[in-house]
Amino acid sequence: MSHGKVILVSVFSVALALGMSAGAFAQDAAYVGNTQCKICHNKKEEGEQWTKWKAEGHSKALETLKSDAAKAAAQKKGVTKPPAEAPECLKCHVTAYDAAAGKCPEKIKMEDGVQCESCHGAASAHAAEGKKFKSGDKTAKPAEKIAKADEKVCKTCHNEESPTWKADRYKLADGSSSGFDFKQAWAKIEHSNPAKKK
Ligand code: HEC
Ligand code: HEC
Ligand code: HEC
Ligand code: HEC
Repeated sequence: MSHGKVILVSVFSVALALGMSAGAFAQDAAYVGNTQCKICHNKKEEGEQWTKWKAEGHSKALETLKSDAAKAAAQKKGVTKPPAEAPECLKCHVTAYDAAAGKCPEKIKMEDGVQCESCHGAASAHAAEGKKFKSGDKTAKPAEKIAKADEKVCKTCHNEESPTWKADRYKLADGSSSGFDFKQAWAKIEHSNPAKKK
């Protein structure tokens, strides 16, 4: 049953022959980094998303891995490398860490921790569409080319695999508790656009 593989390989070589990169298959595959987002998403009257992110914990998640608390957490997990260099920690503390390659995509700086595209997905197609929109092309639809982040994406990192997970971190309305609660957690990092009343 090696059929599928043969087809995949031949499609890939056609792409290579045409001079396309593998990323060209998935329009949204390229990460652009938060400095690009800042250009269009930091107006006060639209919610200054970049400034808010810069002020909250996600942007400092690599720094956190250099703390004594991080060393203790790593030791407990049997991780021997310094946490800020350990794939076991970087997978949730920076954006799109590729353990096999031992690095992040080109435009992603590790020191920016968990940045915009950790939650909104790789956004090169969105940024390109945003540029068209800003230059007056009213047929451009940037909102259709970006992921609206949701609870599911949070839980790829906010789960029991986190060495600092506390099952009772959040108190719920019914008196029970939970390690993560989307509503309350979003309220802490909220960066909605006030101009768009929902
Ligand atoms: C060149 C400008 C530009 C850049 C760069 C840009 N955006 Fe946008 N983005 C827009 C515009 C314009 C809209 C508003 C579309 C609308 O209101 O319909 C938008 C909308 C959004 C939305 C809301 C979508 C929705 O469903 O309402 C998100 C989320 C978003 N951008 C995230 C990002 C992130 C993350 C980055 C960086 C990786 C980024 N944008 C880079 C122009 C840009
Ligand atoms: C790529 C992994 C990742 C994703 C995805 C992620 N987070 Fe986090 N989050 C972290 C890390 C790592 C920290 C710790 C940051 C620090 O202080 O160094 C954190 C911390 C937090 C905190 C502060 C601790 C707490 O629970 O009070 C909140 C709030 C939070 N995240 C909310 C969210 C929400 C809401 C989402 C989804 C929309 C989300 N996060 C998605 C990795 C992630
Ligand atoms: C599955 C994702 C995930 C992995 C893997 C992970 N972290 Fe975290 N880390 C988080 C999240 C999410 C938070 C926010 C607090 C929480 O909910 O645990 C966090 C917070 C922290 C904090 C801040 C403590 C606090 O309570 O706010 C430290 C220190 C830390 N992590 C160290 C590490 C170390 C060291 C490793 C590797 C051994 C690691 N983390 C691996 C997701 C992860
Ligand atoms: C930890 C996850 C997370 C990170 C990091 C994050 N966002 Fe978001 N973002 C969300 C969630 C969740 C929403 C709300 C989606 C909804 O309205 O249901 C959102 C909404 C938005 C919106 C839409 C606002 C609106 O009301 O129309 C924009 C624009 C946006 N984010 C841009 C950014 C930019 C730019 C960055 C980085 C500077 C960033 N986000 C970082 C999770 C995140």
